[in-house]
Amino acid sequence: MEDTLRRRVLVVSSSPRPDGNSRALGEALLEGAQEAGHEGDLADLNDVMRGGFLRDCRRCRRADGSCSIEDDFEAFLRDRVAPADAIVYATPLYWYGTAAVLKNYFDRMVCFISGSYPHHEAMTAGLTGKRSALLLSSEERFPGAALGVIAQLQEVSRYLHHEFVGVVNGIGNKRGEVALDPLDPLAAARDLGRRMFDLYYSDFDIASVRPNAVWARAASNAHDVAVGVYEDV
Ligand SMILES: Cc1cc2nc3c(=O)[nH]c(=O)nc-3n(C[C@H](O)[C@H](O)[C@H](O)COP(=O)(O)O)c2cc1C
Repeated sequence: MEDTLRRRVLVVSSSPRPDGNSRALGEALLEGAQEAGHEGDLADLNDVMRGGFLRDCRRCRRADGSCSIEDDFEAFLRDRVAPADAIVYATPLYWYGTAAVLKNYFDRMVCFISGSYPHHEAMTAGLTGKRSALLLSSEERFPGAALGVIAQLQEVSRYLHHEFVGVVNGIGNKRGEVALDPLDPLAAARDLGRRMFDLYYSDFDIASVRPNAVWARAASNAHDVAVGVYEDV
């Protein structure tokens, strides 16, 4: 059954190249999300996080516990990340990790979810319980090259109670070259955007109650949807 609710998707773009490959993947994902009737928005972290890296919080926090780094990050978390139903991280692969500004995004988020921040309960509620996905551009196709970033985003998602529903890795080096990748990652990103809220998400543990087939058609020749969403299959 398709999810027809209108939702908000925020692409958090981190490449210092504003016309680069990972951003092209982000824009393609937004096209798909909009085709599916959702609202889409892209933010460039390089415009937001101008105040630098995380510092020693004991020296850096103001007396009331708020962050003293002067840039738009607090407002960005509150006004754009918190209202979104899905956060999509777009990053180039840099030395087998994310772009530095995306790591800084996670590092500095700590200041707003820790107990000393005056609005930490509201902020924590706003930052949790979404869907998430990763759009990665890299020169190398070797699957292991992307594993560090995938593992980090999967753990970040688990920590934030996000359902990590997809990864698209586009190959290219020159600006926009990802469009020439024969596996067509732009189409894959568009498709992920379209299905962002429909995709069957599974993250089982030993206590999970579930049927032994994933797709209803395998279980009962019924519909081609994940059976986990129906109690009676
Ligand atoms: C500092 C730096 C480090 C990079 N490290 C890697 C790497 O470890 N593996 C890889 O496949 N490509 C690496 N690349 C290539 C980029 O991932 C590739 O050009 C990507 O498409 C850039 O995406 P963008 O256009 O969104 O910036 C690196 C590029 C730069 C500038």
